[in-house]
Amino acid sequence: MLPSIDPKKVAAWSHLEHHVNYEMVATLEELFMDDSERFSKFSLETDGLFFDYSKSHVSEKTIYLLRALAESCELPLAIEQMFSGEKINETEKRAVLHTALRNFSTEPVFVDGHDVMPQIRAVQEQMRDFTKKIHEGAWRGFSGKKIDTIVNIGIGGSDLGPMMVCKALKHYALDGMKAHFVSNVDGSHIAETLKEVNPETTLFLIVSKTFTTQETMLNAHTARKWFLQHAPEQAVEKHFVAVSTNEKAVSEFGIHPDNMFRFWDFVGGRFSLWSAVGLSIACYVGYEHFEKLLMGAYQMDRHFRSAPLDKNMPVVFALLGILYNNFHHLNTEAVLPYDQYLERFPAYLQQAAMESNGKSIDRQGCYAELTTAPIVWGEPGTNGQHSFYQLIHQGTTKIPCIFMAPAIPLNDLDDHHKVLFSNFLAQSEALMKGKTDEEVLNELQRQKLPKETIDKLLPHKVFDGDIPSISIIYRKLTPEILGSLIALFEHRIFVQGIIWNIYSFDQFGVELGKQLALNILPELDETRKTSKHDASTAGLIQKFKEYRNEEGK
Ligand code: F6P
Repeated sequence: MLPSIDPKKVAAWSHLEHHVNYEMVATLEELFMDDSERFSKFSLETDGLFFDYSKSHVSEKTIYLLRALAESCELPLAIEQMFSGEKINETEKRAVLHTALRNFSTEPVFVDGHDVMPQIRAVQEQMRDFTKKIHEGAWRGFSGKKIDTIVNIGIGGSDLGPMMVCKALKHYALDGMKAHFVSNVDGSHIAETLKEVNPETTLFLIVSKTFTTQETMLNAHTARKWFLQHAPEQAVEKHFVAVSTNEKAVSEFGIHPDNMFRFWDFVGGRFSLWSAVGLSIACYVGYEHFEKLLMGAYQMDRHFRSAPLDKNMPVVFALLGILYNNFHHLNTEAVLPYDQYLERFPAYLQQAAMESNGKSIDRQGCYAELTTAPIVWGEPGTNGQHSFYQLIHQGTTKIPCIFMAPAIPLNDLDDHHKVLFSNFLAQSEALMKGKTDEEVLNELQRQKLPKETIDKLLPHKVFDGDIPSISIIYRKLTPEILGSLIALFEHRIFVQGIIWNIYSFDQFGVELGKQLALNILPELDETRKTSKHDASTAGLIQKFKEYRNEEGK
């Protein structure tokens, strides 16, 4: 069992409250002025990732207290419990073993006394074989043409992880290979995708842990119906494969068990890209690159499992999140990759972080009397700068920012990367320094503006500054670095869940809406009466029918 410790009751919590409110009152700029070693003291490097947290409101004492908090919450024990296959997803009685999927050691990993490594390696071999056949043309479409397009049909963890990685690794895509992702049950998603693909050369990957998810199953049936308009029934087996834990449902859909790639209930949906759920990645960039992605994550796993807590990148990253969320009461976080290839990283992270830690009940079954997961959002730089950064710089909500950027671009065009990187650096500097009344006054006076205009403009041009940020620089976006980066964020989520004393690996919060949608669905039929709903829901159903009636639907 996971330790269950109320973090608010441990001494380090109240020490941190006192420390943040009465001792750590200096601004970031003052902290830098007071300590010329600050950058080297408050930065970490591992596996090609450089993590600078010196622009955070921390001193050595803050880190000491945060570490004490983690120790009091028995984090080291929880880390070992996860890696060693204990059933730490207690509400679903499951182990949490995405780390076993990227375990390159010879160590066994036991669940219920059974080593899971042989079955993991068998599926990896199946993936390697299959992707080789696709790429070499040994597996062809029904008309004898090579497969050059994959369409991944899945949602949530069966979409966001592999989709984010395929976008991130586009530079490594095999020649001529195209990858599409269909997730939304809105028919426009599949309709627009099908317009772009050729049934003779397209492989559909139906990805669903449960193989019961409404959106995925409807999209999969629509894809098969479309396919059968172009090909005979017996061609389905060449063009549809499944990734799932549910063999029975896969067979019922009409996919042969030989064309099914298994994973297991110890792999959570939002942590599943490392499993057969990553088949789209392996098809798109080749199995060797997929394996390098796993290797990068494995390196981060080893660091996470062995580094001392205050030198441990995921742990420090997690603790800084807790510092701002729980002690500075800033319940939002912007994730800002200065890397176009990471354009879907914020969307991926939203599920990983908010589905995991968006909980209000603690591991004792009581209301957690603290704020858990902050709201995570973001966009790639510099686009965000021309959109929401105004609010970050001058709004009324202070938003801790996480910046990420490569030192070496994958497309080295003229000055593009230096311009991008200078913006990456300038933003965290601007957030920290701000702009004082005096600086604005000097600037306006230099423009020789009349006093009246200066008085009017001045307050609007002041930036309070002192906004914290973390900057992550990586050498270059390789599959290994991406693997390490994703694992860094995964472990951060785990650590935070442990300290907040919540269960991070279930997601009961998504169920109520699903149940109600099933009740409402038949009521949208023109002939059906609506059952008991609140006046708003009933009124909206009525309006839906009215509009459709007017259009003869
Ligand atoms: O949104 C809820 C959820 O269960 C996610 O956790 C999961 O990633 C997604 O639905 C898809 O589930 P499945 O892979 O079973 O289709």
